[in-house]
Amino acid sequence: MQSFQRHRRLRQNGSIRRMMREHHVSSADFIYPLFVVEGEGIKKEIPSMPQVYHYSLDQLEAELDEVVALGIPSIILFGVPEEKDACGSEAYAEDGIVQKAIRLAKERFPDLYVMADTCLCQYTDHGHCGVVENGAIHNDHSLDVLVKTAVSQATAGADMIAPSNMMDGFVAAIRAGLDEAGFENVPILSYAVKYASSFYGPFRDAVDSTPQFGDRRTYQMDPANSREALREAASDVAEGADVLMVKPGLAYMDIIRQLHDRFDVPITAYNVSGEYSMVKAAAQQGWINERNVVLELLTGMKRAGAELILTYHAKDAARWLKEAK
Ligand code: PBG
Ligand code: ZN
Repeated sequence: MQSFQRHRRLRQNGSIRRMMREHHVSSADFIYPLFVVEGEGIKKEIPSMPQVYHYSLDQLEAELDEVVALGIPSIILFGVPEEKDACGSEAYAEDGIVQKAIRLAKERFPDLYVMADTCLCQYTDHGHCGVVENGAIHNDHSLDVLVKTAVSQATAGADMIAPSNMMDGFVAAIRAGLDEAGFENVPILSYAVKYASSFYGPFRDAVDSTPQFGDRRTYQMDPANSREALREAASDVAEGADVLMVKPGLAYMDIIRQLHDRFDVPITAYNVSGEYSMVKAAAQQGWINERNVVLELLTGMKRAGAELILTYHAKDAARWLKEAK
């Protein structure tokens, strides 16, 4: 008989399959996003994101307890301020909601790695990620506000600054601002490759940041482009980014792979709100097995080349990974 490859030899039982496994998801890979709001006694579910909540600061501690107990090393904080204005001044207020949340988290959980998202869209009344002048987003004037925001977050104790605004030169500007303020050891995780995606819908509900005019296509990337992603990543690396992010994750696995192969910096995949909500909705209908689908998706992101995954599934996945052991 003609000889042929018997690939199935290495799939015969659980032990050999475990031994042959090339990629692993671990709770150590996760960054868990949290939404913080002013007020008291608030733990309010976001309607389009089942089991994701707005927390007032007094409710945050119990949540962080859970995150830490599950072995998740890191969180990223998104603030929903009480007041929005034209230049997003609550983004860099010393007593801004994110600054207060960072201080609280670091005080109670010194070992928890706290990241701050640096953008203006949650804080501007027009909902854009930068400063608007004559009906357009002014790049360099936005940088001034973003640098102030990043420095205020580092001053509050943020371990890492994660700018998501997609202005040109934001890494260089924020790096210089942090260094000048004495934060030369605070790394920058750049949302280097952020697409103008429709998968952000639930997030915008959560933080009320839908642009009041136009859209984000003058600064976020065209989903049809991949070589442009390499240019974005190259400029951010040259400007001093310590870690790169690709966002969203699911429809952009090829971009994760290309960045991983091309650049010697860690890559993060942002498994965004719309990706989360699709899975949740199908699971609620009983159409998919949520546990298996989530672990398969997260494994896919690791296989594509992501070292880290920013995901709303982090707590569930950490629990499932524990049970599987
Ligand atoms: C904006 C920002 C967005 C997300 C996080 N920060 C996208 C946007 O509104 O353009 C999306 C995250 C998600 O969908 O989970 N700076
Ligand atoms: Zn933004």
